[in-house]
Amino acid sequence: MTIILKVDAKKPSIAAIKKAAAILKSGGTVAFPTETVYGLGANALDSTAVKKIFLAKGRPQDNPLIVHVAHRDDIRMLAKSIPKAAERLMDAFWPGPLTLIFRKKAIVPSTTAAGLSTVAVRVPTHPVANLLIREAGIPIAAPSANISGKPSPTTGKEVINDLYNRVDAIIDAGHTYIGLESTVVDMTSSPPVLLRPGSITLDDLQSVLPHVETHMVIHGKNKRVVLARSPGMKYRHYAPEAHVIVVEGDAAKRPAKIQELADSYHKQGKKVGIMVRHRLKYAADEISLVGDPHETVARRLFATLRDLDAKKVEVIIAEGVKDKGLGLAIMNRLRKAAYRIVRV
Ligand code: TXA
Ligand code: MG
Repeated sequence: MTIILKVDAKKPSIAAIKKAAAILKSGGTVAFPTETVYGLGANALDSTAVKKIFLAKGRPQDNPLIVHVAHRDDIRMLAKSIPKAAERLMDAFWPGPLTLIFRKKAIVPSTTAAGLSTVAVRVPTHPVANLLIREAGIPIAAPSANISGKPSPTTGKEVINDLYNRVDAIIDAGHTYIGLESTVVDMTSSPPVLLRPGSITLDDLQSVLPHVETHMVIHGKNKRVVLARSPGMKYRHYAPEAHVIVVEGDAAKRPAKIQELADSYHKQGKKVGIMVRHRLKYAADEISLVGDPHETVARRLFATLRDLDAKKVEVIIAEGVKDKGLGLAIMNRLRKAAYRIVRV
């Protein structure tokens, strides 16, 4: 049986947080909100506890977990050395949606690191996440709280849908703020490399460290090279049940292409949903607006894919955005979810 703890995101009940923290301390699993997406947490230093996360999600064993700590100083316990460049990123962006990768100390079990010699760490800002980690008094390993391969959950309800009766507790604090997972930067190489784009953009990173590089997989090229670098990159992600067709390119030409594709799938007898940015005249079985600006698209993206799935569409035609700023993170997730990419 899973305990559901409903809390106010800004002023969570201390009793509820203490209950969840006690479960974590005794080796159990708790799903909780962060500013990005919900995470499924367990004691990062207890390999038996961490195994429960992999089991609950159906996550491949070779995909390492992010370790969440309450305070920047806590990373000393986990990381072998902390490069100057990392200190500068932490000054600028912690606490917040930025994950940094360091060489790990022996205290981090190989289950958490999935056999790698490195550890990924972040300090979340969400009041619930921060209080929970503080109260538990241990580093918390937490991947996104979805069944492996599904879009990351951005509401408590989605977590309950995926993980009810698979975990010990779920803290439901409504909608997360950002909607896409944290930016991941590998600090073990020089120059540091952006492995997963997020709401802290490449421009943000380069304003602090001009030499940060992007990994090519981020742009959807050359998938094979990356396997050793970030195991998570090789898996299909964020994919709803329906086939996602992403339409990218010239903004002026996208609407006509979206309608043309919707019509052709419809003619094949398919139930078609479209996910578009502006309220134009479209004909489809389901129409979802993800809106404007990019922050809104990011916040709604995963929830919209899940909603369209719940409406049992067979094809989702999704409008892309420009690959700049936060758009890079949005397109990275959409392309990973894609069955087919159409450029206009
Ligand atoms: O916003 C987030 O980061 C959320 C919340 C819950 O904090 N967590 C999250 O975790 O998205 P997850 O497990 O869904 O994604 C972690 C990504 C994976 O792609 C994984 O392969 C990569 O980070 N990663 C973790 N440890 C790594 C390491 N040592 N080296 C390279 N990549 C690593
Ligand atoms: Mg994930």
